[in-house]
Amino acid sequence: MDGDFAPLPELVELRRKYGFLLVIDDAHGTLVCGDNGGGVPELLECESGIDISVGTLSKAAGCQGGFVACSTRWKSLIQSRGRSFIFSTALPVPVVASVQAALHVSRKERWRRSLVWRHVQYFASLTKLNITSPIISIVVGSEEAALRAGRHMLRSGFHVTPIRPPTVPPNSCRSLLSPVFFNLQSTVRS
Ligand SMILES: Cc1ncc(COP(=O)(O)O)c(C=O)c1O
Repeated sequence: MDGDFAPLPELVELRRKYGFLLVIDDAHGTLVCGDNGGGVPELLECESGIDISVGTLSKAAGCQGGFVACSTRWKSLIQSRGRSFIFSTALPVPVVASVQAALHVSRKERWRRSLVWRHVQYFASLTKLNITSPIISIVVGSEEAALRAGRHMLRSGFHVTPIRPPTVPPNSCRSLLSPVFFNLQSTVRS
């Protein structure tokens, strides 16, 4: 909710020292972070130190469902013992085909990923906000204030989502912005 990064290299170091299982949810990093879209572990160069990475296909991939990236040993354990996996219907073929197409686009059209990050830099330079990712969260306080800000922004032509409890603690409601879809040219003109 803050658009910040977990200290993965430090966590990997601790895992090495204490031998715990390191499982991450990289829902927002997948296809967005890292030169190849490999997510936050690729960006922070610590892929080999992570045991299991789960991600969703509903964000950058624009589809539905999710995935678990892990070793073949973990894979067979999850496939045979994972309570929420076994007896559950597989993703429909059209969804899988869409995900495959999204991965193809992600590999062939890398400029899309660069553009996201250019927008982040541009937005940071315009607003002077200290932002490090395409998830930009402005704490506005009460639910009322967050809803009012959301309505105001919508009237001004921007879809800025109010984030309220239980997603965040009471009185720390946020306006969640994403510069991903901004058109740089029109933003410059206005
Ligand atoms: C960090 C994180 N993990 C998982 C999910 C769940 O994604 P999905 O809606 O595709 O199940 C979300 C959704 O917002 C998320 O923010």
